[in-house]
Amino acid sequence: MRVLGINAVFHDPSAALVVDGVVVAAAEEERFSRRKHGKPPVPFSTWELPEQAARWCLEHGGVRPEDLDAVGYSYDPRLGPEPNHDLATDGWEGLRTLYVRRAPLFLKAALPGLDPSRVRFVPHHVAHAASAYLAAPSSTASVLVLDGRGECASHLAGRAVEGELKILAIQALPHSLGLMYEEVTAHLGFRRSSDEYKVMALAAYGRPRFLDVLRAAVRSTGDGGFVVAPIEWASLAPRVDPGGAWGEAHADLAASVQARLEEMLVELARWLHEQTGDRDLVMAGGVALNCVANSHLAERGPFERVWVQPAAGDAGTALGAALYVAQRLGDPIAPMPTAALGREWPEAALRAWLETAAVPFERPRDIAEATAEVLAANGVVAWFQGRSEFGPRALGHRSLLAHPAHPDNLRRLNDIKGREQFRPVAPMIRLERAADVFEGPLPSPYMLFTHRVRPVWRPRIPAVVHVDGTARIQTVDADEEPLVARMLAGFERRTGLPAVVNTSLNTAGRPMVDDPRDALECFGSAPVDALALGPFLVRRRAA
Ligand SMILES: [Fe+2]
Repeated sequence: MRVLGINAVFHDPSAALVVDGVVVAAAEEERFSRRKHGKPPVPFSTWELPEQAARWCLEHGGVRPEDLDAVGYSYDPRLGPEPNHDLATDGWEGLRTLYVRRAPLFLKAALPGLDPSRVRFVPHHVAHAASAYLAAPSSTASVLVLDGRGECASHLAGRAVEGELKILAIQALPHSLGLMYEEVTAHLGFRRSSDEYKVMALAAYGRPRFLDVLRAAVRSTGDGGFVVAPIEWASLAPRVDPGGAWGEAHADLAASVQARLEEMLVELARWLHEQTGDRDLVMAGGVALNCVANSHLAERGPFERVWVQPAAGDAGTALGAALYVAQRLGDPIAPMPTAALGREWPEAALRAWLETAAVPFERPRDIAEATAEVLAANGVVAWFQGRSEFGPRALGHRSLLAHPAHPDNLRRLNDIKGREQFRPVAPMIRLERAADVFEGPLPSPYMLFTHRVRPVWRPRIPAVVHVDGTARIQTVDADEEPLVARMLAGFERRTGLPAVVNTSLNTAGRPMVDDPRDALECFGSAPVDALALGPFLVRRRAA
């Protein structure tokens, strides 16, 4: 069966293609349109589809729109707010429902040849859940989904047995841990449903002194759900204007919200574990991108193993909807083997891009060794290799790499990316070396957990150690990522250090680099010392 998945309703529009139960391609629209998060998450934009991502997925799979057996759309309008006579009520939410009902026709217009009767609506949280239990290595697991909102809920707890989901609890809106986190994100002057990870980073600078207030307002209800009472944020810390300065009270507020979220995750997981007795938990939904909370859960929660969908935000629902529909149509589903599900270019095409740009370049015998050499000399390298990543993390395919021993490299990278200086950068390390340097759950291939840096290593790799002594690591398995593993080994041979700084390849406010033109534009406009574009190396003259 050939099944296309579409996420279009809120933010991070994306598409995925599943053929005979195997994920063939998945991509976010922002990587094509160069518009961060694809579109604003308002009802008026619901009609906009991930057109370019969907076309590319089909092209990559050699599937024409008329060949599709089904399209899974990750929102069910039958569960959404009913449009009434005055569409403006309830913040135009009814308009969203109307647009989703028309989505099959919009899809037919975007993908000529597609049969609109093949579109199947998958409830938003079921799509999130499927992106975890059908994509994870174990097909029997407890399932926890937490996000801002779907049609009418913000949470799903359930159990998947041999790939069949049984829903055990759903928390209806307005109670939402994701929306609470979004609110505090906006209160602290950051961008709602985009910058939540900044609150998580800021939390490490504060003390959770408002935790009692949070505990009174945010409580689990003993039946798998929870309540979130309205919180007067300004009574705890004054509102910050966008881009404004934050102080101690703001860091303390971030720390308090983060701490309560961590406690809630453990409470919800305990309830779920009492129902299922499973050893494995799989998670998705935007809240599952909170790697600090994930680590807290992995460490203190009742489950032995926790697996998180790397595209845990709404982008991943395109994949979940496609997998869910494919399974309903009878296909056995294969776990996703990697998050590298996006575009790539053959060597000849990369060479042509470099020749068009008229930049001097070389083709070293091994780009991994040549990159390790530049990094060892404290150069910053833009690393563009293979298929781009699905999800918000750079995992060694579209990365900025640097030497971890120089504390100033954090500032250099944050300058290149136009980011706040309190934002940490992360290390990548070969799997077999990870336990020597970091404490925490291994492997960690998708950067969804934080690990404690062993004290003896902290002064040796200061650029990647967050203020609380942790690091959000990516472990690299040489069997899965031989090129990256070779680069890391080459760096260790030269420096004695097993880790390299890895952050996403993009500049301020832009989506991650996806195609060779983006890579060349990034290299041309930012103080990066070298660009490793496939097997080719471009050096900045001064370097
Ligand atoms: Fe969601």
